[in-house]
Amino acid sequence: MGIRIAVLASGRGSNLLAIMQAIGEGAIDGEIAVVLSDKENAMALEHARKAGIPAYHVNPKAFADKSDYEAKLLEYITQADCQLICLAGYMRILGAYFVGNAPCPIMNIHPALLPSFPGLHGQRQALEYGVKVAGCTVHFVDEGMDSGAIILQKMVPVLDDDTEDTLSARILVQEHKAYPEAIQLFAQGRLELDGRIVKVKGE
Ligand code: GRF
Repeated sequence: MGIRIAVLASGRGSNLLAIMQAIGEGAIDGEIAVVLSDKENAMALEHARKAGIPAYHVNPKAFADKSDYEAKLLEYITQADCQLICLAGYMRILGAYFVGNAPCPIMNIHPALLPSFPGLHGQRQALEYGVKVAGCTVHFVDEGMDSGAIILQKMVPVLDDDTEDTLSARILVQEHKAYPEAIQLFAQGRLELDGRIVKVKGE
């Protein structure tokens, strides 16, 4: 059976697909219990529905304020009895209400080697800065912007002729490995938090 996972996504949903595939292959001891999106047309919702996973558009504009909106998200997550929330291309900053009231830990994947290049367009920021190594980071979510404890990171080289697209594609391949790996470590109860340091038990 394993853990029940809620996924929040706003767009194309390739990380959601990678997680679904890993579950299908038995590489994650768990299941996706619900997918939520702030965007009605998110491909992520379609991917989920095709696989028979409950998937809902929750329109932020339909709520009086951000806390009301986030309360609705948490209602779905609680009803689905989730033990982990995964942000996978969720393009809104979670508010204090969500982070403070979430019934379980929250993870995010970011397309840069944090703490470098947080926020939007991590890949473009890395390219413009001129770093020679880029990558992705899976981290726990706190109230800051991409500032929570780091679970794991994967690196890729930055090549002289890279564009934002070629670098993003190289990083995305690693994202699709990193996220399922991090989720499985959580599912196996192997992530230990010591302050902001995440230790992997049994390594
Ligand atoms: C990924 O690059 C992820 O790191 C970032 O948003 C993008 C989402 O892509 N947070 P997808 O929707 O999973 O394809």
